[in-house]
Amino acid sequence: MSTTANPSPAVSGFGFGRVFTDHLTTMSWTRGGWERPQVRPFGNLSLSPAAMVLHYGQAIFEGLKAYPHPDGEIRLFRPELNARRFQLSAERMAMPRLPVDAFLESVSLLVSADRAQVPDRPGHSLYLRPLMIATEATLGTRPAEEYLFLVLGSPSGPYFDAASPAITVWVSQDLPRAHPGGTGNAKCAGNYAAGMAVQRTAADHGADQVVFLDAREHRYLEELGGMNLFLVREDPHGPTLVTPPLSDTILHGITRSSLLTLAADLGLRVEERPIALTEWRDGSRDGSVAESFACGTAAVVTPIGRVRTAEEEFVIGDGTPGQWSTRLRTELLAIQEGTAPDRHGWMRAVS
Ligand code: PLP
Ligand code: COI
Repeated sequence: MSTTANPSPAVSGFGFGRVFTDHLTTMSWTRGGWERPQVRPFGNLSLSPAAMVLHYGQAIFEGLKAYPHPDGEIRLFRPELNARRFQLSAERMAMPRLPVDAFLESVSLLVSADRAQVPDRPGHSLYLRPLMIATEATLGTRPAEEYLFLVLGSPSGPYFDAASPAITVWVSQDLPRAHPGGTGNAKCAGNYAAGMAVQRTAADHGADQVVFLDAREHRYLEELGGMNLFLVREDPHGPTLVTPPLSDTILHGITRSSLLTLAADLGLRVEERPIALTEWRDGSRDGSVAESFACGTAAVVTPIGRVRTAEEEFVIGDGTPGQWSTRLRTELLAIQEGTAPDRHGWMRAVS
C-alpha cells in the first residue's frame, strides 16, 4: 500500500485519506473524446508546469465509499448520484461530461483491483476519490482541450478524531464560502481552496470545522467546509429535523438527502428552510435546539457539541451526541455496512 510519512495503520488506525491503495484508474480526454479507463500502479503523475489546472484551477472531484459486506460482496453507496453530481460540476467548470457508466466502471475497476485493501475493521471503508483536472499545457484563459480523470482509493477510518464524541465548529461571519451565481453547488477544488484561510482561523480558535453563513445577509446557516448541517428541534408537536434548503450556494449532499429519507422512515418531522444563526444560538440556550450534526461521505454523521463565533460560544444540549444524531448515524451505517436491509436500494455491488 502506498503511504506518505504517516504512523503505521496497524498501530494508529488509518485515519482519513492518508494511505492509498496500490492502483489508480485513469482516463484521458482530448477533443476526440474519452479513452478507455486503465488501471495502473499508484504513483506520481507527469504533468507540464503549464498544465492549465495549475494556473486556472479547472479541477473537480467526488467522494464515495466502498464497504465490505457480511455476504462477501463489496458495495458502493449510491454511486450513480456521485456520477451525476460530477457531471454537474464538470458543466459548471466547462469541463467534459463523463458518462455515468464510465464513472461507475472506473470506480469498480479500481475497487476490484484493490479488493484486498478494502479495510474490514469496524468504522472503516475504502474512500474513493474520483477527480478530473485540466492537463493541456497553455497559458491561454479558455477551457482546456485536454483533461485527465482519475480515481484513487484510500482505506480510511473516521474523518474526525474518534476519541472526541462531538466536534467544535467556528462560524465564519464575514467570509462566506459561496455566493449566488458562484460555484457553491459544484464540487470544484477552488471552493475548498477559498475556505482554507477560515479553516486556519477556526483551528486557531480550537475548532474542528467552519460553518459558513449566506453571502448576502451574513445571517443564515449554509453548510460546513465539507459537510452539510442539520439541527434537531424539540418543537411542541415533537422532534423536528431541520436543514438549510438546497440552492446554488450549498453542495447537494448525498448523505443529506439519504438522512432526510431515513428521518422520515423513523417518523421524524423534517423541514428544509432557512435557519438564522440567532435561531441556532437562542435555541441552544433555551433548549429548543437539542442537537446539531454535520454530515457527509467522509464525516457520516458527526455530532456538533460547541459553536464558537468571534463574540461568543454556545453549547448544543450537554455538548455530547444527542439521541437522534446517534440513531440516524446508526441507521445509515447499518445500511452502508450491510448489517441492515437495503430497503431503499441504495447499495450497488462492485462487478
Ligand atoms: N458539502 C460540502 C462542501 C462537501 O464537500 C461535502 C462532501 O462531499 C458535503 C457537503 C457532503 O456531501 P456528500 O454527503 O455527498 O458527501
Ligand atoms: C467527502 O465527504 O467526500 C468530501 O469530499 C468532504 C471533504 C473530505 C473534502
